[in-house]
Amino acid sequence: MTKLWGGRFDGKNEAWVDEFGASIPFDQLLAHQDIAGSLAHVKMLGKTGILTAAEATTIADGLKAVAEKITSGEYQFTIENEDVHLNIESFLHEEIGPVAGKLHTARSRNDQVATDMHLYLKEVLQDVVTKIAALRTVLVKKASDNIETIMPGYTHLQHAQPISFAHHLLAYYGMLTRDQERFTENLKRADISPLGCAALAGTTFPIDREFSAAELGFSAIYQNSLDGVSDRDFILEFLSNASILMMHLSRFCEEIILWCSHEFKFVQLTDTFSTGSSIMPQKKNPDMAELIRGKAGRTYGNLLGLLTVMKGLPLAYNKDLQEDKEGMFDSAHTILSSLEIMAGMVASMTVNVQHMAESTEKDFSNATELADYLAAKGMPFRQAHEIVGKLVLSCTQQGSYLQDVPLTQYQEISPLITADIYEALQSRTAVKRRHTLGGTGFDQVALQVEKAQQELGSH
Ligand code: ARG
Repeated sequence: MTKLWGGRFDGKNEAWVDEFGASIPFDQLLAHQDIAGSLAHVKMLGKTGILTAAEATTIADGLKAVAEKITSGEYQFTIENEDVHLNIESFLHEEIGPVAGKLHTARSRNDQVATDMHLYLKEVLQDVVTKIAALRTVLVKKASDNIETIMPGYTHLQHAQPISFAHHLLAYYGMLTRDQERFTENLKRADISPLGCAALAGTTFPIDREFSAAELGFSAIYQNSLDGVSDRDFILEFLSNASILMMHLSRFCEEIILWCSHEFKFVQLTDTFSTGSSIMPQKKNPDMAELIRGKAGRTYGNLLGLLTVMKGLPLAYNKDLQEDKEGMFDSAHTILSSLEIMAGMVASMTVNVQHMAESTEKDFSNATELADYLAAKGMPFRQAHEIVGKLVLSCTQQGSYLQDVPLTQYQEISPLITADIYEALQSRTAVKRRHTLGGTGFDQVALQVEKAQQELGSH
């Protein structure tokens, strides 16, 4: 078959060149965007008089017919036609004959593919923003049900201080709020039209770039044609945002995996989000959480892959840029499905409220309470820290806890300690008393929930 670009070639391409050079196996995902771009372009060609009104209408009708026949499966993409752009153009030839050849006036595949990518990413970004907001809503709901649920707060994965489970969940709400902001910000850069930059230098035809941009719903156009066809920053930004998002989801999944374990028993996942073992009949594995944790890896890979592709490229278009697609599609698919699964998993998980709270009762996570108690009564904090540290050591040796120490012993340690110490040592009291802004105190957490609900309501 002759190539649409075959004029200056006298030989036929080897099959392996077609095979290696083609992007149709993956860029066919852009068919819908490619046709939308062509429709806007041809409308502009008609409006500016570059094509006659009749030609523009014939081409536009032809493109619509092609779109339908791609959807119905009547037109099949072929490797010989290399990419989505050439495949669609050849279908258009089949549909309307030689006038199809006029569609590519004042355009290049270089601005065409960049336009497709911008259109695709705009759709994905809107979808991502909606799905992040949905997950944030789930988190806030779970948090509002668990304001007074006590859990051990950790540092170094060691019991540190008791906290509200809602507080823990709302930390992820904070991360996801920033993620959502980043993707929303990303939309601005995806929302710029490269159409009309042509191959690299613009064109001699009197095109109207603003018209075609507006047709496609873009808010702005690239000011420099070389930049317009070479820029993939908006994709890098997306891959970077996707990596940060997946890092957050992965951390959360890691915690959920720990919480489901026999050792923690803090939460239970529903059967939908778990799978069994082919050999061990008792197993209920948190596979979905593990997979989200695992898939963070590929999103980092996609970011590093494209950064590396871009780093040595001279202006303007180079075929290397064809490598921008698979990673982008993959990250888009990965984050969209991960966000959805995460929302379902968190919404449906059962919290073992009592067990969680009990796990803060046989530990020393109230040691700061004792030190703070002494410091509040005037003892220098460092001295209080030292005294409590020694007491923890002796308790550990005897197999007891701070709440088991008799009042007489406390008063020998310091006359500042009175009977109200036992109340202060309760996990619930420890959480409740942390009234500082952003702290884990029930009143503060309730305030965080309220603010989050307002944020979600106003978006
Ligand atoms: N399939 C190509 C890509 O994805 C389209 C642009 C081709 N342009 C060119 N000058 N060969 O990048």
